[in-house]
Amino acid sequence: MSALWQALQQQAAEPFSLRQAFSADPERANRYRVDACGIELDYSKNLIDAKRWQSLLQLAAQSDIVALRQRMVQGEAINHTEQRAVGHMRLRLPEQALQQLDDASVVSEIRQCRQKMTALVNQLHQQSYLGYSGQPIRDLIWVGIGGSLLGPQMACEALSPFNKSPVSIHFAGNIDGAVVHDLCRSLQPETTLVVVASKSFGTEETRQNALTLRQWFLDQGADQAAIARHFWATSSNIQAAADFGIVPEHILPMWDWVGGRYSIWSAIGLPLALQLGNEQFDQFLAGAYAMDQHFLSADAASNMPVILALLGVWYINGMGCQSQALLPYNHYLRLLPSYVQQLDMESNGKQVDHQGQPLPCATAPVIWGDAGTNGQHAYHQLLHQSQLVIPADFILAAKPQHGLHDHQLRLAAHCFAQTQALMQGKTVEEAKAECLAQGMSEAAASALAPHKASPGNKPSNTLLLPELSPYYLGALLALYEHKVFCQGAIWQLNSFDQWGVELGKQLSGPIYQALNGKSSVFDSSTNALLASLQRHLTS
Ligand code: F6P
Repeated sequence: MSALWQALQQQAAEPFSLRQAFSADPERANRYRVDACGIELDYSKNLIDAKRWQSLLQLAAQSDIVALRQRMVQGEAINHTEQRAVGHMRLRLPEQALQQLDDASVVSEIRQCRQKMTALVNQLHQQSYLGYSGQPIRDLIWVGIGGSLLGPQMACEALSPFNKSPVSIHFAGNIDGAVVHDLCRSLQPETTLVVVASKSFGTEETRQNALTLRQWFLDQGADQAAIARHFWATSSNIQAAADFGIVPEHILPMWDWVGGRYSIWSAIGLPLALQLGNEQFDQFLAGAYAMDQHFLSADAASNMPVILALLGVWYINGMGCQSQALLPYNHYLRLLPSYVQQLDMESNGKQVDHQGQPLPCATAPVIWGDAGTNGQHAYHQLLHQSQLVIPADFILAAKPQHGLHDHQLRLAAHCFAQTQALMQGKTVEEAKAECLAQGMSEAAASALAPHKASPGNKPSNTLLLPELSPYYLGALLALYEHKVFCQGAIWQLNSFDQWGVELGKQLSGPIYQALNGKSSVFDSSTNALLASLQRHLTS
């Protein structure tokens, strides 16, 4: 561990009071504030001072951030365990910048894919895409999981006020049959388009759901020509999609240089493009592009992704925090925590560095959260009073997508009040004074005060978006992508593979076979569970 890491850990062990920091420095809010692409980040309510912040900036300067970023932009295979480049930023380049890319074949593939998406969206909007019985398509089922689902599902929810699609969009991810069962009960095959979204086209959940949906079509009287008309795919495994029976014209490409959790900008964004229309989808890409430009050009000290990354590293490695709350004070952003969970935890939840050597410290945080104010009546109690320190990102969009002005003011008041309460807390003396002011006896006030007091000194960031539009959502998602990138660079790990998810997949095969009658012996716990399950299934 470097001397700088050790210095950081020593500094983190020194006492620090946010209350005192604010009263000693009237400029604190301005000092720790940054704007990028119209998004404002107030990071003044973090457990940092000038000394700590300088050390963190030094850490950024000594890290691989700049060099790795350069290698990413140049298309080097920085995902070295899979020999893949990391090119999701190319997908949000505006036409002019796209033209300047070195690789002509990549440029033409991106263009062709965009054109194909645009044409499909137009056809569906104009209701000129007819199903096998001659009726226009009314529903689209998006079959995918992980990165092939979380992004479009979250973004469609986030931007639902911008919905102008005549086609309703449904998502089928889980292999739990309940999902497709319910969809098949409520939809008609003749007016339904199915898009099988799988980069590998080998993911069990997606294949199983797609097969069940195909059978549903056949059971309802559709023939092979009808299936060909109603099924599309987005995949980098063109052969497997074709083997499934999807005609080549209906396959939207993906590329091995786009990781699943970074793929919302590719054809995986089709549901969002369908919902928004092509122009607004371009705005979504434009917001992400603007954040890319900020990330690529701003100094570390004013680079929003770098700042968020450093703060995260400070809490995880300096203070031993294991989790990070993501609290959008916006109903439409309620799926954002699940999306960022995959982005952050699948990227940086690793055990070894680039050379395969054990990492000397913990890496990604456990990301969790939900829309405010709901959480205030559930888990905020723990944020305020438990001994755990859980840094939290609060996200607020200033202008709402509805006209209920007073609701918005109350929502914003709660958002800001939470960060204030976490920061300043309430001392036992203050709690006691409050009790006395309410007319309690000295004894009763003394007894209740420790229960009412809050330690404060709990860190948070506040991200303020002008509004939750396609542009700002694009910028926000790119911000979190780059934050995760910077942390991976600091920890010197590969943020772009996910080998840890493979073991469970491997083990499920023999267990499934055992459930189908093949005799196998597992550990005693699994054997007993299998026996109990069989008993229930056959009773
Ligand atoms: O199992 C993890 C994972 O590989 C994710 O990284 C990916 O986003 C998801 O599965 C889906 O993969 P695919 O798009 O290949 O079906």
